[in-house]
Amino acid sequence: MKVNPNTKKYCHTTFTSYNKIDKNTGFSTSSSFYHDFPVLQKATKIIEKEFPDGTDIFIYAGSNGEEALSVNTLLNKHRKYKIYSLDISKEAVDFANNKIFAIHPLAEDGFLLNQNNYGYKKVLSTIFHKNFTEIKKPQTSIDNVTDFIYTITFGDVNLYPQRYFVPNKPFIKNINFLIGDINDIDMLNKKESAGAIFFRNAVYQITKNDLTGVLQYGDSPNIEINRKRIIQELIKKVYNTLKINGIFVLGNHLQEHLYIADKSIPLNETIPVDEARNLRFMKKHPLIEILTMNGKFKPLYESVIQGLSKNNSLKIPLIWQKIK
Ligand SMILES: C[S@@+](CC[C@H](N)C(=O)[O-])C[C@H]1O[C@@H](n2cnc3c(N)ncnc32)[C@H](O)[C@@H]1O
Repeated sequence: MKVNPNTKKYCHTTFTSYNKIDKNTGFSTSSSFYHDFPVLQKATKIIEKEFPDGTDIFIYAGSNGEEALSVNTLLNKHRKYKIYSLDISKEAVDFANNKIFAIHPLAEDGFLLNQNNYGYKKVLSTIFHKNFTEIKKPQTSIDNVTDFIYTITFGDVNLYPQRYFVPNKPFIKNINFLIGDINDIDMLNKKESAGAIFFRNAVYQITKNDLTGVLQYGDSPNIEINRKRIIQELIKKVYNTLKINGIFVLGNHLQEHLYIADKSIPLNETIPVDEARNLRFMKKHPLIEILTMNGKFKPLYESVIQGLSKNNSLKIPLIWQKIK
């Protein structure tokens, strides 16, 4: 991967409809319906092709469940598949089990509120409204959007009113929302039991790869952490849990793919970002390096990475298949 070390353009601009920081872990649990839709669409097609009679699908980093629900709408015969949406954030999983989903008009999935869409947005709104029913604003507060600007009210007038939806009961019969840590995946599940494992936009959290803090606020990077080892252990567990031809699905944010170099990386395998603070990026992508090692996985689908300047269309494989 070629990286311009002088780039300061990185920032998270997308506003997700579920936009919170977990009090216990300090992690962002933000998510949206159909987040990075092309990857979800491709992943569901592969799952249906490889496992036409059904399989278990583990959606780790499932946050408040919107990812698992999106996947379920995209599976043609979803009842054949057992979906587990797991997250270490109790708060996010409580939201999922509450089964009331708010959509903010300005969020990434705000287009679902508009029935007059075109193209893929029209298709997605149609399948969404087929499987969800709109309800009035519930009595219990759904404080899923914490940014003040998005919840601003003048007296009784809410500038950006959210709308609320509940999934239709038959539609969610095949989904369980559970607390779960991906590090325990091999202890909780039988060997080679999963047709798909999703872990999107959370590798940066387990590796503490805080690009936003580093580039935006000048936080000191923690270069004591061995990111490569953390990723190696993760991939080993994912490999053991996947069936042959099963897939591993990654997120598309830059923070997942541009790694701060830790002390275990030889100097000549790093690129300086900030000499004064001895801050360096890893030259090689650790996830790709580890996933391609020993020919156990093959990349099936590349996608554009979010967070780079507009004319940069860096693509990274986000769906990997276990081939042996
Ligand atoms: C930024 S959110 C991404 C949510 C969703 N996958 C998406 O891309 O829209 C990251 C989620 O990963 C969860 N997470 C972090 N470490 C985890 C772990 N070890 N096991 C399971 N979930 C984890 C966090 O609690 C958070 O909800």
